[in-house]
Amino acid sequence: MFTSFELKAVTIPNRIVMPAMCQYSATEDGYVTNWHRVHYGTRAVGGVGLIILEATAVEKRGRLSNHDLGIWDDDQIPGLRELVELGQAHGCVMGIQIAHGGRKSFGEELVAPSALAFPKMAAPHALTVSEIKDVVASWRHAARRAHAAGFDLLQIHGAHGYLIHQFLSPLSNRRTDAYGGSLQNRMRFLVEIVEAVQGEWPEDRPLSVRLSAVDYLDGGLSVCDTVEISRTLQDRGVDLMDISSGGLLPAPIKLGPGYQVPYAEAVKQEVGIPTIAVGLITKDELAQEILSNGRADFVALGRELLRNPYWVLKAQAKEEIWPWQYHRAMPRS
Ligand SMILES: Cc1cc2nc3c(=O)[nH]c(=O)nc-3n(C[C@H](O)[C@H](O)[C@H](O)COP(=O)(O)O)c2cc1C
Repeated sequence: MFTSFELKAVTIPNRIVMPAMCQYSATEDGYVTNWHRVHYGTRAVGGVGLIILEATAVEKRGRLSNHDLGIWDDDQIPGLRELVELGQAHGCVMGIQIAHGGRKSFGEELVAPSALAFPKMAAPHALTVSEIKDVVASWRHAARRAHAAGFDLLQIHGAHGYLIHQFLSPLSNRRTDAYGGSLQNRMRFLVEIVEAVQGEWPEDRPLSVRLSAVDYLDGGLSVCDTVEISRTLQDRGVDLMDISSGGLLPAPIKLGPGYQVPYAEAVKQEVGIPTIAVGLITKDELAQEILSNGRADFVALGRELLRNPYWVLKAQAKEEIWPWQYHRAMPRS
């Protein structure tokens, strides 16, 4: 848990990740606020190895709420840079998740691979091929801005039923052109985004993709599909897979400690690409077990880090990891 891991030119000081978690606390124009400064700054002081900033919209119409962070405008760069500098000052590696909600976005302008609505939402407009190219270009510009802001790692949000996932899953993609049908075609949008992003993102910094390993529905994405997608992404130069699940459509999910770890494990074992496991990992025993047995290279703690920002410090009661200002409060055995 406390050994470092090198991804390209970036050394992540430990294996604990704070996964992307929307805070719905940006201004209506998608700018960083004091909330973000305190929220991310606290987890960086808390010793998290890698913070992945919340889903940050590559296009205004791709926001999930009217208070999402945005990266669709150059003016949004300085606020993001401040967060990067805050985190890095505490030795934390700073990543950002860039995202587009597609048919699950907030607002009127819903777009998707096919005109199939998410339950209780309006029907989206099915993107034409030339519109797809424009959306891909918005990911590219977002990558340029993420680099300009100084982020160490970039994550493409391909999970949770958002636009990329809508292309990947046969349940939401009924296209009959080059972007639909076979898995290879359904992957095309994601692969084009990866290529576009790589045009702007420096080669020596890690690129990550988050996927939902399964849709939990008949006819939806399976672990086998996810392994195949991950293999393609690895061949294309992606460095780190973050393996979540669900979100495409309402579905029954059996929750329990580490319930998504087997998916990360399958991707790691079968593809040999570094992975992040996530989902109800709250105890250091479980985190350590996952890492020691090589089931994943990183563990992400979401809600647990919201409740307990100093989880990492508490798990390692060693003086050197605690900020000197807090030494008098350090637990002693
Ligand atoms: C408040 C909140 C916001 C979230 N926002 C995002 C997000 O922006 N992007 C994403 O990929 N997942 C998001 N998630 C999912 C988390 O990253 C994580 O995968 C999930 O909470 C399961 O991990 P946990 O059991 O450790 O919380 C969010 C979860 C929470 C609780």
